[in-house]
Amino acid sequence: MTHRCSSVLLEEETNNEALNPSPAEQQQIRGAYLTRAGNCMGCHTAPGGWPFAGGRRLSTSFGTFVTPNITPDKETGIGYWSEEDFWQALHQGKSRDGRLLYPAFPYTEYTKVTREDANAIFAYLQSLPTVSQVNPPSEIRFPYNFRPLLAIWRALYFKAGVYAPDQSKNEEWNRGAYLVQGLGHCNACHASRNLLGASSEDDTLTGGKIMGVNWYAPSLISNLEAGSGHWTIEEISELLTTGVSKHAIASGPMATIIRQSLQHLSSEDIRAVAVYLKSIAENERDDTARTHAPVNSAERWEQFAQGRQLYEKYCQECHGTSGEGVPGIYPPLAGNRSVILASPLNTIRSVLNGGYPATTSANPRPYGMPPFQQILREEEIALIVSFIRNAWGNKGSWVTTVDIDRSKESVN
Ligand code: HEC
Ligand code: HEC
Ligand code: HEC
Repeated sequence: MTHRCSSVLLEEETNNEALNPSPAEQQQIRGAYLTRAGNCMGCHTAPGGWPFAGGRRLSTSFGTFVTPNITPDKETGIGYWSEEDFWQALHQGKSRDGRLLYPAFPYTEYTKVTREDANAIFAYLQSLPTVSQVNPPSEIRFPYNFRPLLAIWRALYFKAGVYAPDQSKNEEWNRGAYLVQGLGHCNACHASRNLLGASSEDDTLTGGKIMGVNWYAPSLISNLEAGSGHWTIEEISELLTTGVSKHAIASGPMATIIRQSLQHLSSEDIRAVAVYLKSIAENERDDTARTHAPVNSAERWEQFAQGRQLYEKYCQECHGTSGEGVPGIYPPLAGNRSVILASPLNTIRSVLNGGYPATTSANPRPYGMPPFQQILREEEIALIVSFIRNAWGNKGSWVTTVDIDRSKESVN
């Protein structure tokens, strides 16, 4: 895949400049690192396409966005842009010609990036090979395709502003907060959005369904979801850099973020992120919202037994007779927080699409899970998923065929 060859490209470039870099080169090296932290390449590269030349399609409830070319090509990229133009884009969400940009470009988070870091990213992007590539226009539905409406949206939901350090916290915590809230744009996925795609400050990192794809990014605040209050800093760091820890395995879009971005961060920066994540996790938002569906009727018992049979046939060989998994190879399903999330979306997605954990240098050839899309009927998937959400001490809501939506591809 492109991402992998382009990452080689990045590393080579950085290495070549290692001997006595000039201040300008140092800025580019720093910029390359920050560009990774922002995962700019992930969105601005089409599958199989040139890095940063855009053309990747992002489906949202407003239509499909096609990312622009941000290589320094003068005609089709951002070759004519100045540092100031770039700052306007990253910090204010405005293009060079004054056009307001859609928040599918997460400038709502990137606005927290400092001018110095923005300049370094710009210097790096300008040092890339130029790629002349015209991308097709985005296909945004009426009325959202009327760009001036963005002015209203911005007045309501967007406030530009660089991250302001919290003086009551130490430097490491502030570094973590800066990365999570800014370049890491974690909130772009881990927050619920209203119908206009905006999230409120109260909803920061409290979990949400990712627009256009059937994945739910769990709350990073609630310890019942993906909050890491009970984990050690080392365990959180391990998950973020290898995609796997004793407690969890990152799947789908999160595996992609780890592969493309987080695994490349320095151990100091990952530690800072872990310190920050641990500090924001809390217990108080508890279980009340979760709809327990105890297996308490004859009909449920019958379905539970059918689910067990299907599990034994299709899943047990890897996930074990008691859902215990195989350490480091197949994740446990018993006591697995992501299996019992209030939203069954991710579990259904895993069964339909299968998947691989993040391919990282620490875990270069992870074992995968086969897709069951073609093998199992919807009723069977509902039975298996309900079973694993309620077997071995797990407690999750019952899943029916209505919850199963095959229509959307998993977009990683
Ligand atoms: C989640 C996907 C996503 C990520 C991550 C992302 N972008 Fe974008 N970017 C977009 C989309 C979509 C647009 C087009 C928005 C529009 O048309 O209004 C865009 C637009 C831009 C533009 C404006 C280009 C123009 O011609 O007006 C620039 C510059 C840019 N991005 C740079 C970056 C940088 C730098 C990063 C990393 C720090 C980044 N992007 C990360 C999706 C993304
Ligand atoms: C492109 C969307 C996206 C972005 C950006 C994103 N996440 Fe996630 N994240 C997800 C999804 C989806 C899941 C649920 C899948 C899973 O459990 O692995 C998830 C899960 C997680 C988990 C729990 C993993 C587990 O298995 O328990 C953690 C921790 C996490 N994300 C942290 C972060 C941090 C920190 C950032 C920012 C640096 C971030 N995420 C950015 C989509 C995203
Ligand atoms: C060949 C071995 C194999 C089989 C068979 C298999 N799985 Fe998996 N499963 C895996 C691997 C490997 C992962 C981790 C993949 C990933 O993260 O995307 C996984 C991940 C999962 C997850 C996500 C767990 C998490 O923490 O995010 C769920 C849920 C799951 N499997 C359920 C099932 C069910 C239900 C079946 C039977 C229909 C099944 N699996 C069959 C190997 C398997």
